[in-house]
Amino acid sequence: MLFLATALVFAAAGAVSALLWVRRRWVAPLNRVSIVAERLAAGDEAARADASPHDAVGRLAATINLLAETFQHDLSELRRLEQVRKDFVANVSHELRTPLASVKAFAETLRSGAWKDAANRDEFLQEIEQNADRMTRLVEDLLTISALESGRMPPRFEPLSLLPVAAEAAASLKPLAGKKRIVLRVEPFGDLPQVRADRGQLKQVLSNLIDNAIKYTPENGTIRLSAAAQAGWVTVSVQDNGVGIPPEDQPRVFERFYRVDKARSREEGGTGLGLSIVKHIVEVHGGRVSLESAQGQGSTFRFSLPALG
Ligand SMILES: Nc1ncnc2c1ncn2[C@@H]1O[C@H](COP(=O)(O)OP(=O)(O)OP(=O)(O)O)[C@@H](O)[C@H]1O
Ligand SMILES: [Mg+2]
Repeated sequence: MLFLATALVFAAAGAVSALLWVRRRWVAPLNRVSIVAERLAAGDEAARADASPHDAVGRLAATINLLAETFQHDLSELRRLEQVRKDFVANVSHELRTPLASVKAFAETLRSGAWKDAANRDEFLQEIEQNADRMTRLVEDLLTISALESGRMPPRFEPLSLLPVAAEAAASLKPLAGKKRIVLRVEPFGDLPQVRADRGQLKQVLSNLIDNAIKYTPENGTIRLSAAAQAGWVTVSVQDNGVGIPPEDQPRVFERFYRVDKARSREEGGTGLGLSIVKHIVEVHGGRVSLESAQGQGSTFRFSLPALG
C-alpha cells in the first residue's frame, strides 16, 4: 500500500515536472512568439520575435521576423511612392496655377476697358497666348511621361544609325538657335555602329537636349553635337558654352520639375520635365545619361546606348 502511494507520489511529481518542462521549453516561448505575431497584426511594425533558440520555435520566430521585414520594406516603398505621387500632383497644380492666374488677370483687365487701347490689347492678348502655350507644353510633357511610365507607349525598337536622327532633330531646332544667333553644329560622326532604338523616342531625347542647350546659352553661343563609339557603347554628346550648372545642382537636374533657376527657366517656358523624360527614355533603351558642367562656361550632356553587332 505504502509502496503504491509512494509510486503514485513519484508519478505525480514526475508528471508535474514534465508539465513544467513542457511549459518552460515550448509553451512559454510559443506564447512569446504569438504575442509578437499579435503585435505585428495590430500594426506594430517594429515588433520582432526572439529567434535565438535552435529549435522549431526559433525557426518559427525567424520566419515571422523575415515576413515582418519584407512587409516593412514593401510598406516603406508604398509610402515613398505615395509621397512621390502627392509631390507630383502638388507640382503639377502649382505649375498650372501661375499661367492660369495670368490668363485670368489679363482677361479681366481687357474686359474692364484695356481692350480700347490697341497697344495694351495686343500686349495682353499676346500674354494670354504665351501662357496658354506654356500650359499646352506642360500638359504635353505630362502626357508623354504618363505614356512612357504606364507602358502604353512601349518603344518600337529597330536597328538605327544615329546620324540621320541627330541631323533631323538638329534641323528642326536650327530656326530656334538662329533666333539667338547660336551656331548649332553637327560634327561628322564617322563610321558608328548602329543602336537598337525607337526612332521617335531617340529624336525626343536629342531634341530635349538641344532645346536646353539653346535655352541656357546666351546669344552668339555655340552648340556641338557629336558622337563616338567605345567599348560596346555609342555615346552622343550635346555640348554648349552657356550658363553652366553649379555642382550642387548637377545631381538633381534629371529629377522631375527640378530647375536650377526657376525664374529663368519659367521665362524660357520650361517646366523642368525635359531631362526626366530624357533619362527615362535612355534607361528604357538600356543606356545611361551623364553631365559635365562648369558654371559660366557651359555644359555637356551625354547619353550612351549599347552598340549593335
Ligand atoms: N544645357 C544646359 N545648360 C544649363 N542649364 C541646363 C541645361 N540643361 C538643363 N539645365 C538646367 O536643368 C533644368 C532642368 O532641365 P529640363 O530640361 O528638365 O527642364 P526645363 O528646360 O526647365 O523645362 P522643360 O524641358 O520641361 O521645358 C533646367 O531648368 C536648367 O536649370
Ligand atoms: Mg528642357
